[in-house]
Amino acid sequence: MERQGSVKTIRELRLALDRQAGKKIGFVPTMGALHEGHLSLVGQARQDCDVVVVSVFVNPLQFGPAEDLAEYPRLLDEDVTSARGAGADIIFAPAVEEMYPEPMVAKVRVEGLEDVLCGKYRPGHFAGVATVVVKLLNIVRPERAYFGAKDWQQLIIVRKVVKDFNLAVEIVAMPTVRDADGLAKSSRNRYLSPKEREAALVLPAGIQAAAKMIAAGERDAGRVIAAAKEVIAAQPGVKLEYFSIRGPLDLLPVDVIAGEVLVAAAVYVGRARLIDNMVIKV
Ligand code: PAJ
Repeated sequence: MERQGSVKTIRELRLALDRQAGKKIGFVPTMGALHEGHLSLVGQARQDCDVVVVSVFVNPLQFGPAEDLAEYPRLLDEDVTSARGAGADIIFAPAVEEMYPEPMVAKVRVEGLEDVLCGKYRPGHFAGVATVVVKLLNIVRPERAYFGAKDWQQLIIVRKVVKDFNLAVEIVAMPTVRDADGLAKSSRNRYLSPKEREAALVLPAGIQAAAKMIAAGERDAGRVIAAAKEVIAAQPGVKLEYFSIRGPLDLLPVDVIAGEVLVAAAVYVGRARLIDNMVIKV
């Protein structure tokens, strides 16, 4: 098994994995700048599988022209150390040219799911995610792949792609890991100044406010959303992108809260775009 550094090429990765024939491969795709959220996925893969592969690849295909592709944190040495510490056997860190030696003309689209919530504000983002995830799954060929519930829409889209294309992989979802004060761990939290970090707490607070109203018996999604928006609007320095209540699987808007609902929001704090969500059962 590879023990040093990272594997850079698909060929090298396949050679390493072909030597592990018959073993159960667990896969954690990431864009690096690893934190405890990522590492919880790696830890679960370690528990479930014989060989754990973590990919670190900042995927240009999922960034819009005005987004943070250039400034996205790249910390491969630290990532190799922390991924190994959490149980990774192989870190696959390909260059862009290795993943995209020629322009991609084939793309994975996920109608109905890719244009709502974050997809409405990040056109092409989820096609970029779905496309790279299919490529990575075909390269690594894992038995299980691990995704965080923090990126709920991504998780639902990946599950749907796997189902629609009969991909031979089990998608395992892991709960959102948060800092002690409630802010969801994110590679993009690195963009926050201490003051912005403080202001960002209004994102989980807004979702908590919605959860509280629902727990208290409110069933009108519009009223819950309006109240949560007020909480977020009261915080200077935070710009709300959306606050929405939807079906957790179809991502369709919900008017009357019943069964299970997804409460999801995105905000800008300075230049950092942050997302959070909670699935609530009534
Ligand atoms: P990235 O943002 O690096 O996240 C990699 C995985 O870690 C995703 O499944 C994400 O949901 C999970 N994750 C991130 N923060 C988490 C947290 N606080 N708690 C639990 N899990 C968390 O998501 C991507 O990369 C990319 O879109 C990718 C799937 C790698 C495709 O490029």
